Amino acid sequence: MDNADWRRRDLDVLWHPCSQMKDHEDTIPMIPIQRGEGVWLEDFDGNRYIDAISSWWVNLFGHANPHINRRLREQADTLEHVILAGLTHPAATRLAEQLVALTPPGLDRVFYADSGSAAVEVALKMSFHYWRNRGRRKSRFACLSGSYHGETLGALSVSDVGLYRDTYAPLLLEPLVVPSPDAFDRAPGSSWAEHAERRFADMERALAEHHQDLCAVIVEPLVQCAGGMRMYDPVYLERLRKACDHYEVHLIADEIAVGFGRTGTLFACEQAGISPDFMCLSKGLTGGYLPLSAVLTGDEVYQSFYDDYATLKAFLHSHSYTGNALCCAAALAVLELFVASDVLGENRRRAERMRRAVEPLEAHPNVGEIRQTGMILAMEMVGDDRRPYPWQERRGIRVYRHALERGALLRPLGNVVYFMPPYVIGDEEIDRLGEVAISGIEEATGRRL
Ligand SMILES: Cc1ncc(COP(=O)(O)O)c(C=O)c1O
Repeated sequence: MDNADWRRRDLDVLWHPCSQMKDHEDTIPMIPIQRGEGVWLEDFDGNRYIDAISSWWVNLFGHANPHINRRLREQADTLEHVILAGLTHPAATRLAEQLVALTPPGLDRVFYADSGSAAVEVALKMSFHYWRNRGRRKSRFACLSGSYHGETLGALSVSDVGLYRDTYAPLLLEPLVVPSPDAFDRAPGSSWAEHAERRFADMERALAEHHQDLCAVIVEPLVQCAGGMRMYDPVYLERLRKACDHYEVHLIADEIAVGFGRTGTLFACEQAGISPDFMCLSKGLTGGYLPLSAVLTGDEVYQSFYDDYATLKAFLHSHSYTGNALCCAAALAVLELFVASDVLGENRRRAERMRRAVEPLEAHPNVGEIRQTGMILAMEMVGDDRRPYPWQERRGIRVYRHALERGALLRPLGNVVYFMPPYVIGDEEIDRLGEVAISGIEEATGRRL
C-alpha cells in the first residue's frame, strides 16, 4: 500500500480535525504516515518530513523514543488502566508527587483529566465551585484577546480566536475579554516590558470594575500559541498575580502548550516568579504519546471542597480515563528524560541556532516580525502596507505545501510560520528548517530576499 492507497481509503471514511475536508481534494495533500523516529516522520512512499511543530506541540523527545517505549511496555505488562475513583495505582501517585515538586510553590494537589480542553473545563468549574463553597456568588471569567484554551464549550467560551469561536457563540459563556499584552502591537521604540506594563492598565480596570462577579482570569503564560504565537513580557504575569490577589479573583495559568520547557524554563510562570491558583498541563506532559492532562491547585482550594458528602461541596467531575496508568507511565518517563540530561541548557543552544537559521528574514519586506520565546520561534508575514495579509489569501498554506515538498512539516497559523520542534532536533535539521522557511516565505509572499 502506498500513499495513494491509504489516502483514498482514509478520505472515504475519516473526518479530520480542524480541517475543511474539501481542501483535501486539491489544496492540501493528505499525507499518510507509516512511522516516526526522532524528529522525522515517514510516509508510505518513503518521503521523510521534519516534524517542526511537534505534532501539535505535544512531542518533546522525538517519535518512537526508546526510553518512553520501554516504560510503556513495562506499564502495559503490569496494569493498563483502573478506575481512579476509590482505587489508585503507583504511576498516578508518583506522577502527582513529581508534578507537585516541579511546579511553582503552593500547587500541591493534582487532579487528572484526559485532554487540554478537559483540564480547562476542570479549572473553570473548580474555580466557580470554590467561590460557591466559600459562600460567594461569582459566575464570570476573564480572558485575553487572541486567547485559545480549547474546543469544548467552556474552554471555547474563554477563547478569543474568531475562526474557532464565532460559529458557536450562541452556545457559549460570555467572558470578559481584556486586550492582550501581545508585543506585536507595541508602539515603535517601546520594549516588550513597557508595552506589557501599559497594557496591564486595561486588566487593572477590568478587575476593579468586575471583580465581584469574576471567578478567575485565565491566561496562556508568555505565549498565546493558537492565536498566532503572540508573545509578551513576564512583567504582565507579575502584575496580574498581585492584582488577582488584591481583588480576590483566581489566576488560571494554562500551560498546556507552553509547559515542559517550551519557553526556556520548565514552566512559563517561573519567568515571572509567580504561582497561579490553578495550573493546567497537558500536551508535553506525556511527551506526545498519550492524552493526559492535569490541573494543579493549592491547599486552600482543596480544603474548600473537603466536607461531608451531603453538603455538595465535593468536586464530582470525572472522565472514564482519568489518571490512566499508561498515560501516567509515559509522563513519568518524560520526567526521567528531563533528569537524565540538561535538556533546558541544550535547548538554549538550539533556540539560538533556530534564531540564526532565519536571521536573513529580518531583511525581508514582507516579514513583519520574527519573535522568539525559548523553543518557540515565529515569523509573521505581512503585506506591503505592513498589515497582516487577509486570511482568505491563505499565504500560510503556500508555505505548508512548499515545506512538505522539501521534507518539513510546517503548519502555519494564518500568516504566522513557526518552529516548535521536539527537543531532539539536531543542528543540521534546524538549518534545513531555516532554509525551507526562508524559501517558503519567499514563495508565499512572491518576493525574494
Ligand atoms: C493553550 C492551550 N490550551 C488548551 C488547549 C486544548 O488542548 P486539547 O487540544 O488537548 O484539548 C490547547 C491546544 O492547542 C492550547 O494550546
